[in-house]
Amino acid sequence: MKNKILLTGDRPTGPLHIGHYAGSIKNRIEMQKEFETFIMVADAQAITDNYDNVAKIRENVYEVVADYLACGIDPAQANIFVQSMIPELPELTQYLLNLVSINRIGHNPTVKAESRQKGYEESVPAGFYLYPIFQVADIIAFDADVVPVGRDQAPMLELARDVAGKFNAQYGDSILVEPEALFPEMVINLPGIDGNKMSKSLGNAIYLKDSREVIAKKMKKMKSDPTRASISDPGDPDKAIAFTYLDIFDKDVEGVAQLKKEYRAGGLGDGVIKQRALEVVDAFIAPIRKRREEIIADTALIEKVLAAGTAAAREKSHKTLKRCKEAMGLNYDFLSLVTS
Ligand code: TRP
Repeated sequence: MKNKILLTGDRPTGPLHIGHYAGSIKNRIEMQKEFETFIMVADAQAITDNYDNVAKIRENVYEVVADYLACGIDPAQANIFVQSMIPELPELTQYLLNLVSINRIGHNPTVKAESRQKGYEESVPAGFYLYPIFQVADIIAFDADVVPVGRDQAPMLELARDVAGKFNAQYGDSILVEPEALFPEMVINLPGIDGNKMSKSLGNAIYLKDSREVIAKKMKKMKSDPTRASISDPGDPDKAIAFTYLDIFDKDVEGVAQLKKEYRAGGLGDGVIKQRALEVVDAFIAPIRKRREEIIADTALIEKVLAAGTAAAREKSHKTLKRCKEAMGLNYDFLSLVTS
């Protein structure tokens, strides 16, 4: 019996890449066995900065679910659901908004950085500005004990704990769970091919759906030690991203150590390292890619998974919202007088 609840989610702005796998999916596959797991495809949140391109978000909901399933998130263990299908979430947000100041929202460093990136400084859409409170509701609505997320989400979790604590202080002890952030230790920060954080918007990602040919092209562009003028010069393996990939994906640790030695001495070309990185990354992706192709072609399967997960998510969040409204004294029952 699983007695602790885990909630986490992703914005469906594109298919998932190997950085997502290393940074979160792998950990979820482990944790789904121990926790009652809810995984949210956060389409409503994704729309806060894509309101002019809802079709893109809509398409990527199924892409992300296909990625989850292909990687090994098991719908028998985890409830995969679509955020916009849960009206309890915005309703809960409405009550939580009273417990947070505008200043507090404005000080969230993640939202500040995102605003700058999107050029929102002049005029921030209110929906985007408030998304952290909606995210707090996402977490609280599921009575989540743990929320495994990246470090950038730390301010959201701090907010969630504060808001839950404030709600309890105002409306009744232990109505809401104060969630813990979990920054999984086993996760790896896999850089993109240019050495920056792997991200769709930077165009430096390798996707779980990429063909071998596509991966090969990306590997060719991969950053290597920029100070090295010719192959015979000594190189620094720490500056060659292909080596970072070998460190993560190549099981032949000694072989990699030997290559690093040769690279340092000079005489070992980057092409050799990149070819080896291609082999190990493609070997990792190949079985996922194959499963994914079958899954993405099977819309009925994806919808069956989402139907079950979303129904479970609605039931859970409905219970929490009812508990909150009762605690607040908003427990009218006069609708029962209506006879049709
Ligand atoms: N903000 C998260 C992201 O950008 C997605 C998300 C939405 C989420 N709601 C959540 C994560 C609740 C954890 C818990 O990836």
